[in-house]
Amino acid sequence: MDRIRVFPTQSDLYKGAADYWKEVANLAISQKGSFHVALSGGNTPKGLYKLLANTPYINEIDWQKVYIYFGDERYVPMDDKESNYRMARESFLDQIPIPPYQIFRIPTEDPNPQVSADSYAELLKNYLPDQSKFDLILLGVGSDGHTASLFPHTSILEVRDRLVAAVYVEKLNTWRISITYPLIEQAHQVFFLASGIGKSLVIANILKNLEGKDYPIQLLLQAKEEVVWYLDKQAAQAWENRR
Ligand code: 6PG
Repeated sequence: MDRIRVFPTQSDLYKGAADYWKEVANLAISQKGSFHVALSGGNTPKGLYKLLANTPYINEIDWQKVYIYFGDERYVPMDDKESNYRMARESFLDQIPIPPYQIFRIPTEDPNPQVSADSYAELLKNYLPDQSKFDLILLGVGSDGHTASLFPHTSILEVRDRLVAAVYVEKLNTWRISITYPLIEQAHQVFFLASGIGKSLVIANILKNLEGKDYPIQLLLQAKEEVVWYLDKQAAQAWENRR
């Protein structure tokens, strides 16, 4: 299949992404009886989550067999407006018939973020099938080329011996908890979702010069090429102009 799909509008992008999500979910459920997926945070995925929580998608996936995790979290209370968990709960999780004990948020209560990261890593080892492999990891694209909370010039980019790590992001003056490269690299499917002209240049730079090391996403692509990109026309503009 084509690894990079470009859709005319943002709403076409979300529909295409929902179709892909459904396809991967139903394949995993038919093959293994369950679907284990890590959600991304930020703003972009909200449109996808809302689609999945409504007809037809809500009736086309067996949510009793879906297990939902998070790729990263801001180190804030779960009801904070910055919380990725809160965003996913409001746009998606509260509307779907998934057993609450199959939703695994990243804990943010411990005063020491690394304690939370370690406990989440333990949880992933216990719940994810075949040695901590996600069926699907949904990732966003930051304008600085970060994804999850793998930010440029941060310590987490060097982490190879943990599945989850805490990282202090200087420029945001905040702690984050994030899945690490090893966990992403071993996933069955990785799916980047990006929309809007603001992501166009960074996406073109990432897709055009894989050997660069400026963007954390490039480091991922050097280890794992078979990722899927879902972009709208605006996000793909600079890349298409350079083809
Ligand atoms: C987060 C995300 C982060 C996000 C990108 C893009 O916690 O913010 O996990 O990696 O995907 O920053 O964010 P937008 O979709 O808001 O542009």
